[in-house]
Amino acid sequence: MARVCGADLNRHIALIGFMGAGKSTLAPIVAERLGRRAIDVDDELGVDIPALFAQGEEAFRAVEAPRTVDLLEDPEPAVLALGGGSIKSDEVRDALGRYAFTVLLDVDVDTCWERVKATDRPLAKDETTFRRLNDERRPLYGGVADAFARDADGVILAAAGVHVERGALAKLGGLVPGDGPVALVSDAYVAGIHGMDAQLALGPRLAETHELPSGEEAKTLPALDRLWQALRLGRGGTIVALGGGTTTDAAGYAASAYVRGIPWVPVPTTLVGQVDAAIGGKTGIDLPQGKNLVGAFHWPARTVIDPALLGTLPEAQRREGMSEVVKTGLLAGEPLWELDDDEMVRRCAAFKAAVCFRDPHDQGERKMLNLGHTFAHALEAAAGYEGVTHGRAVALGLVAALHLSGRDIGQVEELLRPEPVHVDRDRAWEALLRDKKGALRLVLLGDDGPRWDVEVPAEDVRRELDRLIA
Ligand SMILES: NC(=O)c1ccc[n+]([C@@H]2O[C@H](COP(=O)([O-])OP(=O)(O)OC[C@H]3O[C@@H](n4cnc5c(N)ncnc54)[C@H](O)[C@@H]3O)[C@@H](O)[C@H]2O)c1
Ligand SMILES: [Zn+2]
Repeated sequence: MARVCGADLNRHIALIGFMGAGKSTLAPIVAERLGRRAIDVDDELGVDIPALFAQGEEAFRAVEAPRTVDLLEDPEPAVLALGGGSIKSDEVRDALGRYAFTVLLDVDVDTCWERVKATDRPLAKDETTFRRLNDERRPLYGGVADAFARDADGVILAAAGVHVERGALAKLGGLVPGDGPVALVSDAYVAGIHGMDAQLALGPRLAETHELPSGEEAKTLPALDRLWQALRLGRGGTIVALGGGTTTDAAGYAASAYVRGIPWVPVPTTLVGQVDAAIGGKTGIDLPQGKNLVGAFHWPARTVIDPALLGTLPEAQRREGMSEVVKTGLLAGEPLWELDDDEMVRRCAAFKAAVCFRDPHDQGERKMLNLGHTFAHALEAAAGYEGVTHGRAVALGLVAALHLSGRDIGQVEELLRPEPVHVDRDRAWEALLRDKKGALRLVLLGDDGPRWDVEVPAEDVRRELDRLIA
């Protein structure tokens, strides 16, 4: 199973925090997005909480602690909302350490008080006591939490090991898990822009620096051969990959096989990388026969996303990424493209992280991320991978997928301005059939969200493909 920060994706996610932090509200939202059960520990106690509390806090904790531990010992991964004070118990803290990825919902005390002051919670009867209790518990929460979050996206990102923060590059040294040596592997062009900042941030952990060729040439056997031969790290080392999707795909694959596999940390510098390529653990390289034909699932020890790095990205590269942003927004059913850059990146990254969390090895719902991509790949292949960029092809593919879904294409046209491409129609059709091998199953957008493996008649697919070609 894929592993995250030393923990596997099958651990429980436990939400802790003060009364009113939103644990019970967020647990079902996070659980639904991760395809898990939500468990509200208070509801599982089977007691009248105010009545039991009236007998004293000790009496309540004596019921709460063993029940919480029981629920944490259940091997089926869930999202648990813990009682606000349950972490005072040693057994609960110990069980959290063993079975859960623990996220502290970090909400200020004023907000918490506003939410609970009118409820019948035993410990929220007066504001002074409430605030004193918050001061007392704060260090305890900090001591058990594996991560902090404010909302559902934050919980999902933390559990998937994805850190999104403007300015994160400057903190890179502290964000790379472990304390062993680091090899920095950069895109040769990006190394000249952000490489020095990355080196400084890695500080004394930086043991070696390497460069991969810019662009798709990084994803070739000769480039990997050179990298593997130059690496000096042992088993205790970590590869940090600085660059776009080509760098992170290649360096991640290098890490998956080097000395039989070492941890890696992508630091994506393109929009494609930040919303797509650096998330979800797919790594790989191309062969002359086709793209991404050799690779591995190798979930990053952490993904460090600094939206400030996009400041130096050429406009054409930004447009490449916007096609994936629009795809993500369509899948999520929200206009994520309207958000400012930092929030857009954070929300898109969380969407992909959740899908990959549910299906790390691409056996089911992860297929939804291919919305529009069957057409895109056919157009790219027909152009011999020259002249038609992936982003441009995806913009066209989204138009075809929306048509077949009976949806309006106005928004995609306005946002991405897809222009038909000059490629050979028969060559594109043959490429599409080769890609599909057998029945034509596509990702479409239903009224209640994306559906995948939808069989579509060949003549409809061919008609839509033809419309994308000038
Ligand atoms: N693993 C996955 O799940 C996944 C998902 C999507 C895409 N991909 C892969 O990602 C690759 C495409 O990635 P990409 O679009 O990031 O391209 P890329 O890595 O080739 O980067 C594009 C160009 O931008 C330059 N660049 C990168 N960051 C920059 C910055 N901050 N400022 C200025 N210039 C910068 C690079 O030098 C390069 O020339 C493809 O190979 C694709 O297969 C993988
Ligand atoms: Zn894509």
